[in-house]
Amino acid sequence: MTRKTTSPLLSVRNLTVSFGGPDIVDDLSFEIGHGEIVALVGESGSGKSVGSLAVMGLLENADIRGSACLAGAQGAGGDTELVGLPARQMRALRGRRISMIFQDPLSSLDPLQTIGSQIREVLRAHTPLKGPALRARAIALLEQVGIVDPEGCLTLLPQRLSGGMRQRVMIALAIAAEPDLLFADEPTTALDVTVQAQVLRLLKGLRDQTGMAMVFITHNLAVASAIADRVIVLYAGQVVEDAPAEVFFRRPAMPYSRALLSAAPRLEAVMGGYGHLEAPRGQVPSPGQRGTACRFASRCDDVREGVCLAAMPPLVSIAGPGETNHTVRCARWEELAP
Ligand SMILES: Nc1ncnc2c1ncn2[C@@H]1O[C@H](COP(=O)(O)OP(=O)(O)OP(=O)(O)O)[C@@H](O)[C@H]1O
Ligand code: SF4
Ligand SMILES: [Mg+2]
Repeated sequence: MTRKTTSPLLSVRNLTVSFGGPDIVDDLSFEIGHGEIVALVGESGSGKSVGSLAVMGLLENADIRGSACLAGAQGAGGDTELVGLPARQMRALRGRRISMIFQDPLSSLDPLQTIGSQIREVLRAHTPLKGPALRARAIALLEQVGIVDPEGCLTLLPQRLSGGMRQRVMIALAIAAEPDLLFADEPTTALDVTVQAQVLRLLKGLRDQTGMAMVFITHNLAVASAIADRVIVLYAGQVVEDAPAEVFFRRPAMPYSRALLSAAPRLEAVMGGYGHLEAPRGQVPSPGQRGTACRFASRCDDVREGVCLAAMPPLVSIAGPGETNHTVRCARWEELAP
């Protein structure tokens, strides 16, 4: 279900990130609609985490160019440019308007503080709640994420929890202040399939209840097909396809997307979709070796020297009249269309 309204919640334009060397993320442009769930997929090293951390203002020593514009909270007017936003203002937005579940849940929970004290700290920072109201909200949050004994959970240290419970606590912390946008970086990767399915249902349910938009970073096409309204494919630091999920899984336009879908083992019985991202033959070029032509050329079965190697194909819109936006970066997309 796509809930995109005419003005996006987040509009990323030409976002480029480097750490003093070659560009890691390169000219990234995409939009996230209000209440929309977007799956960000791509092989390891494609820039999913760096791109998201750049938007969140969480990269140290990075040179970030371009724009990431967050629309004003409902009724509160004014858009906010996140690139270059002073650290103090960024901290005030983080947690309250945009929030993140990190790739490694254990390292992002404080091992010396109980779950209760960590949730209270977030609530104190972002809400006016105090005293018993604070505790009541912490319990309600743990209930909302499906913790069976929320009062008992408040008294525990993170290492006493199972992987599934820790992931639920991470979600509770990330949604405590009811953000408008949640970046979830591989939130189910470490979980077994049953718990993974529960966490996916939980996140989708939260979107349905609260209207929170989500960027769901994953290697797993089954997970993307289970949760996403739209799929954005990153390859070697660039967006190479951005399509409504139903279009992406039926007729992807970029040869790389097709290669990913055909390489993925189907796990119909488990998820009704595709399995963990299997790489097509060959390797993603590293940031210093990406060249000026199509970055997928060395792995692409459809490569044509004069067309594909002459210049970098631009990201072009291929949606027909009245169709939802669909963009692709391939010089031969039209010839190759099924
Ligand atoms: N702080 C950093 N300094 C220099 N290079 C970095 C830094 N962080 C990430 N990189 C490089 O940026 C590239 C993209 O990394 P990123 O973590 O965004 O990939 P990813 O798509 O999230 O991969 P994965 O699926 O493995 O999590 C990689 O080549 C990585 O080595
Ligand atoms: S531009 Fe050419 S090499 Fe690149 S994906 Fe398209 S067909 Fe393949
Ligand atoms: Mg990552």
